[in-house]
Amino acid sequence: MKEKEMSDSSHAAKSPRRTWRTSLLGASFLVLAFVVGPAAQGQETAAFFKQNCYSCHTIGGGRLVGPDLKDVAERKERDWLVRFMLNPQAMIDRGDPYAKQILDESRGVVMTQVAGLTRDRANLLLDLIEAESALEKSQFEGVKFSDRPFTAQDVETGEHIFKGLTPLTNGGPACISCHTVRGLGLLGGGRLGVDLTKVSERVGGRKPLSAWLVSPATTTMQPVFKLHPMEPEEILTLVAFFEDCAKRVGDDNSVAPLTFFLIGLVGMVLVLGLFDSLWKDRFRAVRGPLVSGGEMRTDA
Ligand code: HEC
Ligand code: HEC
Repeated sequence: MKEKEMSDSSHAAKSPRRTWRTSLLGASFLVLAFVVGPAAQGQETAAFFKQNCYSCHTIGGGRLVGPDLKDVAERKERDWLVRFMLNPQAMIDRGDPYAKQILDESRGVVMTQVAGLTRDRANLLLDLIEAESALEKSQFEGVKFSDRPFTAQDVETGEHIFKGLTPLTNGGPACISCHTVRGLGLLGGGRLGVDLTKVSERVGGRKPLSAWLVSPATTTMQPVFKLHPMEPEEILTLVAFFEDCAKRVGDDNSVAPLTFFLIGLVGMVLVLGLFDSLWKDRFRAVRGPLVSGGEMRTDA
């Protein structure tokens, strides 16, 4: 009973006290922004690079899907680089000769338009790339992967992960819910994503594909696999599976549409289930306290 009264009175006093606290908080953020602002911004930019660029670019570790960005500022002026980063396809469509050159060097793979990239952020990223280029060893030199030869066991494990027969350790959805590969007998896969039969060739081989899978840089996969990243060993077996697929299929283009469709449907249900559980977590984190606060009021 006593506790209820207390919670009641704190209720009445809440609004003025809250404004107080809010302004105090605001003031301290302002101070904080001046003191640690630049450092925090640098950290935020590095985190952004890691999440959105590192799957395709190293700084000083050689080419992945895209070129090594070490000393990129010496290859092209900043204004051009910013414009390219904001809309790579437009720059290529315009017939820009340098864009065409780097496109050719990347086997025709066009850089994705990165979500959340603004002119300011592009400039901060180029500052970061310049600073990292000056270091002897950048923190973005590239993720190290085992380069042991693939075994038949790797290929089989990768196939099982792809099909969802072996679940991913950290709870990521099976690839087959959104992707197809040819030459899998009856199993085909979903139609939402792309056909991955020749993905290894397309992106330039084992190293670029492995790096790409560490933080998949597409709007569909990124939010899911950011929360459920794949383990290095799982990535290795998937890459082994894709390389084997490309070899096995050769030029065969046959597909089995109905099976793909049905399996895709089942897959989508599973993916929706995953999103649903993500939303539940969000409910708990944000709406939960509000709702239980409301309940407290009714029984007081
Ligand atoms: C899906 C892979 C991919 C992602 C993700 C990606 N890029 Fe790229 N990037 C490329 C490719 C490929 C090229 C080469 C041009 C082309 O083919 O479109 C390129 C070119 C560039 C260039 C010009 C390089 C040069 O040699 O002149 C810069 C700068 C660049 N990217 C920065 C970034 C930054 C910063 C991010 C993250 C915000 C990013 N890229 C994300 C693939 C990617
Ligand atoms: C929720 C659906 C979904 C799931 C699950 C999914 N992907 Fe994807 N993936 C996509 C979409 C959509 C694209 C194409 C993005 C684009 O066109 O930019 C894609 C693209 C890719 C690419 C790049 C293809 C290319 O040619 O650039 C690779 C590689 C890939 N996925 C691998 C996987 C693997 C491996 C798994 C399982 C561990 C997986 N994906 C699970 C939706 C998904």
